[in-house]
Amino acid sequence: MQYFLTDEQKTIKELARKLAEERILPVRAHLDEAEEFPWPIIKDMADSDLFRVFVPAEYEGLGGGCLELSLVVEELSRVCSGVAISYAATALGSYTLMDFGSEELKRKFLPDIAAGKKLCAFALTESTAGSDASGIRTTAEKVEGGYLLNGTKQFITNGGEAELYTIIALTDKSKGPRGASAFMVEKGTPGFTFGKKEKKMGIRASATCELVFQNCLIPEGNIIGRPGMGFIMAMKLLDKSRPGVGAQALGIAQGALEAAYEYTSQRIQFGQAIINQPVVQSMLADMSIQVEAARALIYAAARYADSGAKDITESSAAAKVFASDVAMRVTTDAVQLCGGAGYMKDYPLEKMMRDAKITQIYEGSNQVLRSAVAAELRKRKAKS
Ligand code: CAA
Repeated sequence: MQYFLTDEQKTIKELARKLAEERILPVRAHLDEAEEFPWPIIKDMADSDLFRVFVPAEYEGLGGGCLELSLVVEELSRVCSGVAISYAATALGSYTLMDFGSEELKRKFLPDIAAGKKLCAFALTESTAGSDASGIRTTAEKVEGGYLLNGTKQFITNGGEAELYTIIALTDKSKGPRGASAFMVEKGTPGFTFGKKEKKMGIRASATCELVFQNCLIPEGNIIGRPGMGFIMAMKLLDKSRPGVGAQALGIAQGALEAAYEYTSQRIQFGQAIINQPVVQSMLADMSIQVEAARALIYAAARYADSGAKDITESSAAAKVFASDVAMRVTTDAVQLCGGAGYMKDYPLEKMMRDAKITQIYEGSNQVLRSAVAAELRKRKAKS
């Protein structure tokens, strides 16, 4: 398929592929086994200007949009989605600042983010607020000189490793979703510590950690956007970032398809390579069709988000849901095609299958996102 990428987009994609093959491939099994955060690779990504891709040009970025970010995430995930999400979470943690932050905050932080000197994280989820994101309890009380943060954020990607955290907290408990605000919080701020570091089924090269705030004083200037807009900004952010999660799923599925093709081409049974069996060809064909359909939907959703359209909730959710379901099916079939080898840690497929699972869960479970798509259907029906 031809997606009519510009020369710049092709260059970005090729650069990410080269870095993934040369730097991530040799260490991916180790990173997964040791649950090791990939700092040396993050440094290589910074040196290759990959963190500039999603930052606007006026803050020393390359001014790319969702599509450019998705191309990088797809290529990194084709090799290791644990590394890819450590990169993508910095985009997630800085988009709110880019889209709604004051000029002063943007000047202060974005050049370092673009240079890859500071990783970011986004913190919405709490033990009481997963799919029901408006159930957060972390508070930000207005005090002299700023806001006092109290509460605990759970399952935060890049937690502990990032320097900068976008935190959604309640500034007015009585107003529900309209009482939340967003803040930029720096690692090392007194009263901000890290809690439990999670041990995960997949994406084990990435860090997932609790953030604990105890009377943590945030300067007034670190509020992002207007007070009371935190929940709405978080929803808009997730609309924008979901094609990127789809791209993560797409990369995993692409990697699994290629590994399964290679294995079935070499595996001899009954005197010939098993890829010659029609049943194997049929499975590979179905996997390939699903991967290409996911790619088409993700690129279209990312382009739609980049067009400045406001109604991207449905397209972004659809791309994420579709691609993550494809990743789960394709990795499962890839393990099946490779039999015992697919199940063993000597091959990358069992890791890909474990990694695929989270794409159906985070940044909106596929169940909650299907509800969001259904709500858009109802709205259209009501209008017609
Ligand atoms: N864009 C703009 N505004 C939106 C919006 C959107 N997509 N969705 C909702 N809103 C607005 C509504 O218009 C409403 O505004 P008003 O106050 O003006 O009426 C307000 O937000 C509240 O809306 P709802 O009543 O519809 O909200 P809700 O409480 O029913 O929740 C939901 C809606 C879609 C289920 C939401 O809770 C949701 O998205 N849940 C999933 C959470 C999620 O994705 N979490 C991921 C965490 S981040 C992560 O996973 C990252 C990682 O690790 C890598």
